[in-house]
Amino acid sequence: MKINKHHRPIGIFDSGVGGLSVLQEVHRQYPFENCTYIADQVHVPYGTRSREEVLGYSDGIVRYLLSKGAKLIIVACNTASAVALIDLRKKYPDVPFVGMEPAVKPAAEGTSSGVVGVLATPATFQGDLYSSTVEKFARGVEILQDNCPGLVDQIEGGKIDDPMTRNILEKALAPMLEEGIDEVVMGCTHYPFVIHIIREIVGENVRVIDPAPAVARQAGRLLETFDLKTERDREGEDHFLTTGDPGKMEKLIADLIIIQAEVNKLVWDGGNLRDE
Ligand code: DGL
Repeated sequence: MKINKHHRPIGIFDSGVGGLSVLQEVHRQYPFENCTYIADQVHVPYGTRSREEVLGYSDGIVRYLLSKGAKLIIVACNTASAVALIDLRKKYPDVPFVGMEPAVKPAAEGTSSGVVGVLATPATFQGDLYSSTVEKFARGVEILQDNCPGLVDQIEGGKIDDPMTRNILEKALAPMLEEGIDEVVMGCTHYPFVIHIIREIVGENVRVIDPAPAVARQAGRLLETFDLKTERDREGEDHFLTTGDPGKMEKLIADLIIIQAEVNKLVWDGGNLRDE
């Protein structure tokens, strides 16, 4: 049976639970859309992996999502976007993709002190996407970077309000505060889940930028452009999948975005994903 193109799901993926911060925003703005979410937790974190690895995983996930009828794909991972987005767009020219890019532009436009902090993974900082964004939009602005070692693992472990999590963030942000940042960009989709700690550390005079609302808006614009918006007026359904432990993922979904969901298991099989 062929599914009406408007009712096909939006595919969203990340190395783990980070992309849930984007899924949540998609729901807020477009509550009637169905979403299929994939967490590649057997390979998390992506941020310290090689370009070839992240490219291969991203391509395998996209192939799986397309085989399940995804009408648009959100690469809800800054690392995978930095490494694979250009190649994915080339390889699947008919598929609308939305990617993540550290929000350096709004930060550079908004800063009064001229000093901006960016938190992201090593792979994101090393990618061409990041350097070209800085080059294009942050001329004359001082950018301070930190890759918050261990933070993604803390969030994947559900250790949000844990002393170690706060410690990683304090280490990253203290030198930035000393230099006078007044904007801090979350360049990793996992980090919005610790935004309350970041806000406590930086205080109310520093703006903390979460790119998820802008990314969800861009997804909505593409749905309009490609005439793919759902025509239903009842709440969309989610389908969650992980290459890791479905039970653990169910608990994280409940804790992080307060949804009671069933998670199904996916298995990597020679570069391809299949249902278990
Ligand atoms: N959520 C990710 C990102 O936005 C991935 C972090 C990781 O797996 O290292 O970069």
